[in-house]
Amino acid sequence: MRIIRAKDYKDMSRKAANIISAQVLIKPDCVLGLATGSTPIGAYQQLIEWYQKGDLDFSEVTTVNLDEYKGLPRDNEQSYYYFMHENLFRHVNIDLNRTYLPDGMEPDSEKACGDYNRIIAQVGGIDLQLLGLGHNGHIGFNEPGPSFETETHCVDLTAQTIEANKRFFDSIDEVPKQAYTMGIKTIMQAKKVLLVVSGKDKAEAVKNSFFGPVTPQVQASILQLHSDVTVVADEDALSLVH
Ligand code: F6R
Repeated sequence: MRIIRAKDYKDMSRKAANIISAQVLIKPDCVLGLATGSTPIGAYQQLIEWYQKGDLDFSEVTTVNLDEYKGLPRDNEQSYYYFMHENLFRHVNIDLNRTYLPDGMEPDSEKACGDYNRIIAQVGGIDLQLLGLGHNGHIGFNEPGPSFETETHCVDLTAQTIEANKRFFDSIDEVPKQAYTMGIKTIMQAKKVLLVVSGKDKAEAVKNSFFGPVTPQVQASILQLHSDVTVVADEDALSLVH
């Protein structure tokens, strides 16, 4: 595991974007595994800037996202489909037919997850998987638990997550109660993993994930066993480990 120390969020975003753009330059038809959440937004902005300058070409890139809420239509502003379009896809020359997320509108969980596993296999697996890190060490929607889930599966969101998401919806009934997420095996099968993390509030998670024992209670800790992981963390996120 390589840990790259960044000064701050901006520096972290630039360093992460450099690694992603190197992947696209070396293999223009690569498969990028992408994440939502606030942490990767700066890296996406940097990639858009380089694309606009003519330094990057996404025309042959395929993307597979980590996760999606179950039951949210694509045009809902809280859906991860919407997020990816707003924060990356609509600003670059990516072929939308080659961008994949789990189908949140498929009510049959088994079908949605099976279909997504097949898509990941059909595109030939993931060259570079981008990840953020949850406060409890989650990656994707893989939450602390007794074991590591393998492939794409449906998770029940915790009462805490539902409560926290309430503010984005008109009523609590509209807040998604479940999500589809790639599993740990899928993430571990990516050829390279790039995890971005920023802020003092993530320092404990960084310590537990990368400087503690490998345990499903801290799902990101499994990344210690991957042969090609780069963590780009800012000084605040590293404040408990150096
Ligand atoms: C996003 C995802 C989540 C986030 C994590 C960190 O697709 O799967 O695991 O990466 O919750 O979120 P932020 O970056 O908002 O702190």
